Amino acid sequence: MTRIIKFSVLMLSIVFIFSNCEKNNKNNQSEVDDVMDNFIDSLLQEMTLDEKIGQTVLFSAGWEVTGPTLDSNYVVYLKEGMVGAIFNIHSAKGSKEFQRIAVEETRLGIPLLFGYDVIHGYKTIFPISLGESASWDLEMIEQSARVAAEEASSAGLHWTFAPMIDVTRDPRWGRVSEGSGEDVYLGNQIAMARVKGFQGDDLSNNNTILACAKHYAAYGAPLAGRDYNTVDMSERELRTTYLPPFKAAIDAGVSTFMTSFNDLNGIPASGNKFLLTDILRNEWNFEGFVVTDYTSINEMIPHGFSKDEKHAGEQAINAGVDMDMQGGIFLRNLKTLVEEGKVSEKTITEAARKILVMKYKLGLFEDPYRYADEEREAATLNKPEFLEKAREMARKSMVLLKNENQTLPLSKNTKIALIGPLVKDENHIIGSWSAQGDRNGKAVSVFEGVTEILGSSKNILYSKGCEIEGEDKTYFNEAIRIAKQSDVVVMVVGESEGMSGEARSRTNLDLPGVQKELIAEMKKTGKPIVLVLMNGRPLTLEYENKTADAILETWWPGTMGGLAIADVLFGDYNPSGKLPITFPRNVGQIPIFYNAKNTGRPYDPKTPEITYRSRYLDVANTPLYPFGYGLSYTSFEYSNLTINKAEFSLNETININVTIKNTGKYKGEETIQLYVQDLVGSVTRPLKELKRFKKITLTPNQSKNITFTLTAEDLVFYTYDMSFKAETGEFKIFVGTNSRDVLENKFILK
Ligand code: BGC
Repeated sequence: MTRIIKFSVLMLSIVFIFSNCEKNNKNNQSEVDDVMDNFIDSLLQEMTLDEKIGQTVLFSAGWEVTGPTLDSNYVVYLKEGMVGAIFNIHSAKGSKEFQRIAVEETRLGIPLLFGYDVIHGYKTIFPISLGESASWDLEMIEQSARVAAEEASSAGLHWTFAPMIDVTRDPRWGRVSEGSGEDVYLGNQIAMARVKGFQGDDLSNNNTILACAKHYAAYGAPLAGRDYNTVDMSERELRTTYLPPFKAAIDAGVSTFMTSFNDLNGIPASGNKFLLTDILRNEWNFEGFVVTDYTSINEMIPHGFSKDEKHAGEQAINAGVDMDMQGGIFLRNLKTLVEEGKVSEKTITEAARKILVMKYKLGLFEDPYRYADEEREAATLNKPEFLEKAREMARKSMVLLKNENQTLPLSKNTKIALIGPLVKDENHIIGSWSAQGDRNGKAVSVFEGVTEILGSSKNILYSKGCEIEGEDKTYFNEAIRIAKQSDVVVMVVGESEGMSGEARSRTNLDLPGVQKELIAEMKKTGKPIVLVLMNGRPLTLEYENKTADAILETWWPGTMGGLAIADVLFGDYNPSGKLPITFPRNVGQIPIFYNAKNTGRPYDPKTPEITYRSRYLDVANTPLYPFGYGLSYTSFEYSNLTINKAEFSLNETININVTIKNTGKYKGEETIQLYVQDLVGSVTRPLKELKRFKKITLTPNQSKNITFTLTAEDLVFYTYDMSFKAETGEFKIFVGTNSRDVLENKFILK
């Protein structure tokens, strides 16, 4: 055993004695923290400058058939104590070997940290993050992250590069699939739920992992929706829309942050002192560590911000970066920068300290292998209860966009033509960033799901119809023939999984290939058409909305997707998802989102003859499906929107009451949404802002009175002088089933 491990075991016994003796002592936590601080201080004193720099270095392991490999140069660095963390390792066995080298073959034996992109599941894959967000179910979202952490930690991982909490208002950007959509309030809640799910209550438990709030900041607003592109926005907009989920993640205890690739107002995020030090450290007091995105320090050179690698390294560390992902810039340059007096050794010591603190909190100094347990791994991955949760989450994430004449749910005796390139798919269905999720042969396709729910395939006819992309119409005739033989045509169509995600921007958001033409052919058969959509972003669906009888948005629903879809199609589950992002009519409307502001010349559809209004000549201003939208097999009626006070003052609260009734035939879940509009401000204010939501379940004819409570805290914003406060005046309140269809009332803040 190396010196430091002996040293750490001794120190941790002291922690143990402390925590046991002082169980009832209020100061227990601070004493434990003191012990940790002393331990890390002593360790830092033993470390050379090189070893401290080593802690700031993160490299990716490649993965070969037999296991992980590390570039042979990296192995040399690793043995020199010049690598602090490795990512893209997965499996208890794989991580153990690297940990052994770090612990046994380096001078101080400091354990490595293992990271990975565990975004919507590790082995059991849940719906993509945008899909989960459509559930508006914070408890389920937290549980999904918990399952991911259980599985990932059993496979030797300590750290996930998630949650991705970039607010996204441009569906051309492929990464909308990874986030929680366009809204700040919903985004904040989801960010907190995911952080709690990954990190649990105690990082030293072997089933919890560090979360990482990414990508800081404003990465979700690239010009023209093209990935990695420039972001130029006012500080007010940055603070109002793009920063809050990051602050929320800190409030939930997030351990790490990742910088983004973009340049923000002329400064790339990885060299942006305003973001990384002024806001993150000085305003928000974030104590965890900051890692860059993949080679983003190096990329400050093509950005035109750094003249060479050394310059980039200097700018990044001095701006507040603690760890360099994959770029090798810190490894190659920090020592020289210290020698040249451009970076102080203290800056590097502090970066190393933050990283060591996380290793300590995970318990790695006590037992560097505590997360790598092959037996636990085998017993944990794809546990039946995890698969069941994934199915439940998938059902909850689906959004019913249209359901003319109650086409859905389908009767189980119906003769169904299952048509489309994604009917038998077991590959795309789990979506991008799906870690170690099994694809072909393991994920449940729609065909399998429907067959299982029906108990046999005797009422199912199938044709692929066409591919996702390309011009081939060879199977059109077969599809037409079987459609004619059936009672209903269920088409499973969409994007390929690779069309959304990183570097997957699109300028055309129509269904790709000849899928639309296939829908047109199906329409000609006169049969009712149900579209089951799989995609990672809002698509432009005007044609589909006119043509199909029912449309179910299923995103990429994950490992259990096919069963969850079948549950919804046959009414075993009544859909309840609500869009977390607006669906535009066409790409020309983008960016389009519900909480836009008014203009001085707002368009009024009642007076279309007035020319000089804010509108398009060729398309309505309104989206196809608004934020918060989603139907149910039942119907809900909203009434009696009342407020307990017409006026209230800054330190009071108001109660907003509304009655919801299930007026349909099915039991159903509804997400009641409350929006506010501040009518006059020292700066202009949005037309609506989501402030609360609540999910309730109602049986037919049942009604419930719901009360929301607001305080002046809910009305704060960045005023003219950038103070963050509420301004007195008149407010409108809207409550409804989505951001468009609402009841309205008013109050005054005195
Ligand atoms: C992505 C990050 C991801 C990282 C590591 C980057 O390309 O932008 O979101 O965490 O790679 O895989």
